[in-house]
Amino acid sequence: MRKDIYFAAKKVLFEGVSKEELLNDLLSKSNPNSSKTITTMFYGTLRMYFPFQPQLKKINQDRTLKKDIKLLATMAYVQFFQMDSIPDYAVMDEMIKLLPAKFKNVKKHFTWLLHEILRVGKSLDFSGFLPDYMASELKLSLGANFALDYEDFILNPSKKYFCLDSKATFDTAIKLNEDYPFYSISSFGSQVQKEILDQQGVICELNSMLIPYYFDESVGKDHLDLCSAPGSKLLCAKIRYKNDRIVGVEKDKERFVSLKKRVGDLLEVENVDALEYLNQDKSFDRIVLDAPCSGLGTLASNPEWLEFKNESIHHKKLPGIQKKLLKKALAKLNKNGQLIYSVCTFSKAETQDVIQEALGEQYKVKKLPNLIGEKHLSTEYGTYLLPSKKMGNQIFFVALIEAKH
Ligand SMILES: C[S@@+](CC[C@H](N)C(=O)[O-])C[C@H]1O[C@@H](n2cnc3c(N)ncnc32)[C@H](O)[C@@H]1O
Repeated sequence: MRKDIYFAAKKVLFEGVSKEELLNDLLSKSNPNSSKTITTMFYGTLRMYFPFQPQLKKINQDRTLKKDIKLLATMAYVQFFQMDSIPDYAVMDEMIKLLPAKFKNVKKHFTWLLHEILRVGKSLDFSGFLPDYMASELKLSLGANFALDYEDFILNPSKKYFCLDSKATFDTAIKLNEDYPFYSISSFGSQVQKEILDQQGVICELNSMLIPYYFDESVGKDHLDLCSAPGSKLLCAKIRYKNDRIVGVEKDKERFVSLKKRVGDLLEVENVDALEYLNQDKSFDRIVLDAPCSGLGTLASNPEWLEFKNESIHHKKLPGIQKKLLKKALAKLNKNGQLIYSVCTFSKAETQDVIQEALGEQYKVKKLPNLIGEKHLSTEYGTYLLPSKKMGNQIFFVALIEAKH
């Protein structure tokens, strides 16, 4: 099956056959019990190659290019990115010299690859790797230096995976530490990982799981989680505030069904639009608003998103929805209550700008504590939790807001 997956991925990359079509074909030929594993492996293989697809495709399809160059190029990539070994840089250097002038961009890319091999990646210009709007968004929110570092995360994502699932979280003792309910599953075999997923586990990033832990101890007990599925922050909240009443709200019917299955009887969850839920005459001490967002901060785990995400996604609709949700939720905070607005994106329009607009006189943004060595970048309107080998691959924006009224 591994071989079939590899060949299917090759067809997607070099022949332009649709991913869905090939995946369906793979699934139809395999045991239904393995469908999750096959899907994960298929997308995993694509991810590995995705950032280089345009270059590899161009090289492999060009008739004028000598076969040995095609072969060398492909091998260099495979060796470096798939097998974690270093190709012979002298051969690479020769290869770059041999590339005809019309392959200007490919040449540039190979030069970059060679530099990377020689470990001088930090000084390279990465424009062209990320779409321009993403690169400029990154620079706008997080600065140019970080933008360069981030490329490293897309190419070499952290291999640590964490999981949160209601059963394991409440029943077993294999914890990251006593205070936080996340399980590192990287060292488990694939069979155990599969079982965890089958038991409705959520593979998660540490940064995102910490959200309910950022509230001050002194804040009251009424807890509302406004955009809940798949339920990771809700389950973390339940673990941190065992005896408090915690309510989760999810608008999407399908996502609600899996959320309900995951949280079982542990928590109260409602299938309703948050805006409608907030119409009722009730206020809260703690509100988590993990708003729908463009997800740009998850690029390192989903590099194939580079293909689908475009400017319109975050520039047009989302900030409006986020502001609407945030303003309405803030109005439902009790005196001295706290709200956490979080999104897994770095787009300024969905992060700092949303907070700046929604923040009235009676609210203030509080400094985020550092709990387990998160890498922070603080701004007046909230904090970006940055990726690190320890914390995972996501860029996560968090604003802790307190009601002064
Ligand atoms: C970023 S995800 C939430 C992840 C979740 N908090 C967790 O930690 O597992 C955003 C969720 O908000 C839901 N959503 C979007 N708009 C909503 C609304 N107006 N009311 C309630 N849920 C909404 C989406 O269906 C999606 O499941």
